[in-house]
Amino acid sequence: MTEELKAYELARKQREISVAEFFEKNRHLLGFDNKRKALLTAVKEAVDNSLDACEEAKILPEVIVELVQMGEERFRVIVEDNGPGIVKAQIPKVFGKLLYGSKFHHLQQKRGQQGIGISAAVLYAQLTTGKPARVTSKIGPGEPAQYMEISIDIQGNKPDTANEKVVEWKKERGTKIEMEVEASYQKGLQSVDEYIKETAIINPHVTIIYTNPKAEQSIYSRSTDQLPAEPKEIKPHPYGVEIGILMRLLDSTQSRSLQSFLTSEFSRVGDGTAKEICQNAGLLPNMKPGEITRQQAEKLMEGIEKTKIISPPTDCLSPIGESLIERGMKSVINAEFYCSTSRPTSVYRGNPFVIECGVAFGGEIPADGAVTILRFANRVPLLYQQGACAMTESITKTGWKAYGLSQSQNAIPVGPAVILVHMASVWVPFTSEAKEALAHYPEIIKEIKLALQECGRKLGMYINRKTRVTRQLERANLFERYIPELADSLAGITDADREDLAKKLAAMLHKPEIKAQLAHEENKEYDEKKKLKLKRDEDAEE
Ligand SMILES: Nc1ncnc2c1ncn2[C@@H]1O[C@H](COP(=O)(O)OP(=O)(O)O)[C@@H](O)[C@H]1O
Ligand SMILES: [Mg+2]
Repeated sequence: MTEELKAYELARKQREISVAEFFEKNRHLLGFDNKRKALLTAVKEAVDNSLDACEEAKILPEVIVELVQMGEERFRVIVEDNGPGIVKAQIPKVFGKLLYGSKFHHLQQKRGQQGIGISAAVLYAQLTTGKPARVTSKIGPGEPAQYMEISIDIQGNKPDTANEKVVEWKKERGTKIEMEVEASYQKGLQSVDEYIKETAIINPHVTIIYTNPKAEQSIYSRSTDQLPAEPKEIKPHPYGVEIGILMRLLDSTQSRSLQSFLTSEFSRVGDGTAKEICQNAGLLPNMKPGEITRQQAEKLMEGIEKTKIISPPTDCLSPIGESLIERGMKSVINAEFYCSTSRPTSVYRGNPFVIECGVAFGGEIPADGAVTILRFANRVPLLYQQGACAMTESITKTGWKAYGLSQSQNAIPVGPAVILVHMASVWVPFTSEAKEALAHYPEIIKEIKLALQECGRKLGMYINRKTRVTRQLERANLFERYIPELADSLAGITDADREDLAKKLAAMLHKPEIKAQLAHEENKEYDEKKKLKLKRDEDAEE
């Protein structure tokens, strides 16, 4: 009797939880777990969207980011782009509804993927300051600029808008978002400053104008006018599909037979392969997809596993490429040597991916302590959870001693170097929704290690050459000190002229040639950049 009553009592308490309510209580899942990180995440979500939208519209991105301190722990975040803009009717949903976006249902290399980025930032602003987000957007030169203020109805997970109006905006097109958030600003490795700098390194086609809360402005001008190749959208590969997704696809497909379902919903499945899958699964190719039971779906999974299917298409990704990686590093890091590697496409769980690496060495990079690791996924810097990331694991499991850096076993190497790793994929396997670290798939770790080894070998060769030439120079310098004495004694035992002897002996050392070679090894570009910088500093002083 009492048990029944309890169930009724529970029933009265049971109700739906909106996704907005869930994230209101679990903001750490989305990268808003502390005040410093909250500032970074808010900026990052807006900038990532700006860059995605510009690239999709084939516009060279120019993004203006401004942080204004409003109170001790209160900041206004302003991000403005020159992208395609957002249609008026869509603005409220984009910013005021969680899990709403254009990318989730498409397998394509993008910065955003879940549709929970910018709306989460708006939710965080609302929770901490009570202020709505202010959005202005314009979709073309002849079009009006639309302004509105957006907040989120948390129980309904739907937008509330206010103050909708058309405003004057000189821009041809673009989107501007302003949010007021409770946060803290601090410089350093996990700062907004660092995120902006790394974004400039990994996106050499982007111009970013950034003003930090101290009113210091940095302008990162693009170093190439070449937009990244457009990443193509692909269908899932059978090897990557899970049973639940397979059943949903079977349920929702337009195809009338299992055979045509397989060929139309997946990549790399032609008629022959589809027949083979059916055969290996013990299912008839003309079965109706909607009538397939759970058990049959499991058999289908087994059939897929048993069938040899060619790897997914690899032209769907848009890696950065070796020369642009180096250019990106050169524009921001002052080193004496740079190298890079872009691996061929590989596959994990049916998802194609590309690993790229870069190394910068020497110059102005501090020599004490561990190397700096720069991690990127689909051109987005990853600043948190370095220790939990597959990229870091791959670096520590690579033997850097052979390449001229010091390293204790399974540790991050030590020396004046920056190591950059980038993963481009149609679906990046993050360890959480906050998108901070890569999951440890063996296929991915293997590829990263191969890329690191390629870069490592180039670095090792450079360090060897440099050490050899430096030693030559040291020997020449040492010998040079004895020339006067040697010339004296030689002049004493022969009739030769002492001055003449000294000159000839000096010539034998080939010092100018060695010096020239050293300069050559140490990367002329670096020297030239140093000269340019000196000149600029002098000009500034005048
Ligand atoms: N600055 C922008 N310009 C154009 N479209 C945008 C912009 N910001 C967001 N969007 C659109 O809003 C959607 C939702 O953004 P978001 O919540 O960050 O999710 P995601 O980026 O994961 O798709 C995007 O998919 C995109 O279509
Ligand atoms: Mg996004």
